[in-house]
Amino acid sequence: MNLISNLEWRYATKQFDSSKKVSLENLEQIKKAIQLSASSYGLQLYKVLIIEDPELREKLKSASYGQNQITEASHLIVFCNYSAVTEKHIEEYFILKSKIEEVDIPDLKAYSDFIKADVHRKSNIEKDRWTSNQTYIALGNLLNACAELKIDSCPMEGFEAEKYNEILNLEEQGLNTSVIAAIGYRSSEDAAQHVKKVRKPIKDLFVQ
Ligand SMILES: Cc1cc2nc3c(=O)[nH]c(=O)nc-3n(C[C@H](O)[C@H](O)[C@H](O)COP(=O)(O)O)c2cc1C
Repeated sequence: MNLISNLEWRYATKQFDSSKKVSLENLEQIKKAIQLSASSYGLQLYKVLIIEDPELREKLKSASYGQNQITEASHLIVFCNYSAVTEKHIEEYFILKSKIEEVDIPDLKAYSDFIKADVHRKSNIEKDRWTSNQTYIALGNLLNACAELKIDSCPMEGFEAEKYNEILNLEEQGLNTSVIAAIGYRSSEDAAQHVKKVRKPIKDLFVQ
């Protein structure tokens, strides 16, 4: 299974070779892998920012405890969840669904009402956590797609979300920074590439 050897190959890259850029073609494949991610009800309640601008990344680095991956990687990927889910989000999904599946909107009403009621039951904190959770599925696909393309990556939670939201003007769009990933190519000097993987034994991780 290629997936297993890809997962053994990848590691959380600490030092990128800033002279190497991910090609547009590879970037399109990574975007496709994110687009195809599963999400709760299929709503995809997030946006993904792909940031190259060095000045902007300098600002984000200072909101990321100075982690060098932010500025040294080829691209910085910022996953932003819609923290306040509204009926409009659900209606937009059903407009898209009706177009793609060629079903009349009224025929989808019962299902739409069911989702609206389910979302309505969630508290604001639950809504934020729920949509943030979806971004981690997309993050997983990004890591796997990168590994298959032999592109290095580092998933990251070491940043101050409030500062990111401010720098990227996210709040006014109802968005919140959930998780980020730096992607690019490892530096030959990155010691982390030689470190053995630390994983729980299968027998401890699973109950079967
Ligand atoms: C959600 C998440 C957040 C992480 N945050 C950071 C981070 O801020 N900085 C960093 O260098 N590594 C970060 N990591 C990398 C982990 O430390 C790393 O994946 C873990 O130690 C396993 O090592 P491996 O990915 O190299 O196999 C994060 C990983 C995940 C999945």
